[in-house]
Amino acid sequence: MQVVHTAAELRAALAGQTGTAFMPTMGNLHAGHVSLIELAKRHGGPVVASIFVNPLQFGAGEDFERYPRTLQADCEKLAAAGCELVFAPDLAELYPVPQTFTVQPPGSLANDLCGAFRPGHFSGVATVVLKLFNLVQPRVAVFGKKDFQQLFVIRELVRQFNLPIEIVAGATLRDADGLALSSRNAYLGDSERIQAAQLQRELAAIVASVQAGERDFEALAASAVRRLKMAGWRVDYVALRDAETLQVPTPASPQLVALGAAWLGNTRLIDNIEAALGNPA
Ligand code: PAF
Repeated sequence: MQVVHTAAELRAALAGQTGTAFMPTMGNLHAGHVSLIELAKRHGGPVVASIFVNPLQFGAGEDFERYPRTLQADCEKLAAAGCELVFAPDLAELYPVPQTFTVQPPGSLANDLCGAFRPGHFSGVATVVLKLFNLVQPRVAVFGKKDFQQLFVIRELVRQFNLPIEIVAGATLRDADGLALSSRNAYLGDSERIQAAQLQRELAAIVASVQAGERDFEALAASAVRRLKMAGWRVDYVALRDAETLQVPTPASPQLVALGAAWLGNTRLIDNIEAALGNPA
């Protein structure tokens, strides 16, 4: 596996390659990322991963500084998973001049759900992903479903800018107690780690109620928020949405998604669970 740090090296390494499958990451990789590499490999072409902690998507006071930088260990995992090329630029390489041109997703998307609590986050994500797509020029790009709203933003980015890239979504991997794998789980203390699976359990309970016929979506979300708060969480939001539009569901919505974001101490966790309506699990 080759590791390159500059756009010029990347271009040289990709010369003559077609059908590239790409996985952008911020590093500190876990089994969820490895499963995305395995998904990328199914597309036949060379597999490229990027590792870059993107300052544009972090707000003031967020964890940009303390986000774990673990390049060596990440490269070992990527090589073992069969990745062929890693692009790990530094800040000056990706942002040689201040990034005054940015992608602005519409407010209805960028300021909703996670965006309501992380102003500018999805603009930062969309901007860096567009830059990475332009550098790597993949045919396929893989993203995890755990970042459900991010996946939605990227699909819209690709659609509205006519990018010739197929977006492939990988399932969320979970620990035995249901906690979704996330680079940020490493921030959790021992007792927080035990408590952390509650977010997933609350979302699963909402989905079970919906599948049993309950249609008061707001009441379901409010109950989950109440239980999380009683257990000591600081809740950003719990919501039920149409999984295809990310809008408030209608009776005709075929697929729902229960989403939540909440804090345990200094750690913000997000999760989601999809559910087919009227289709008991
Ligand atoms: O999901 C992530 O790791 C990041 O948001 C991404 C897509 C690599 C952009 O920085």
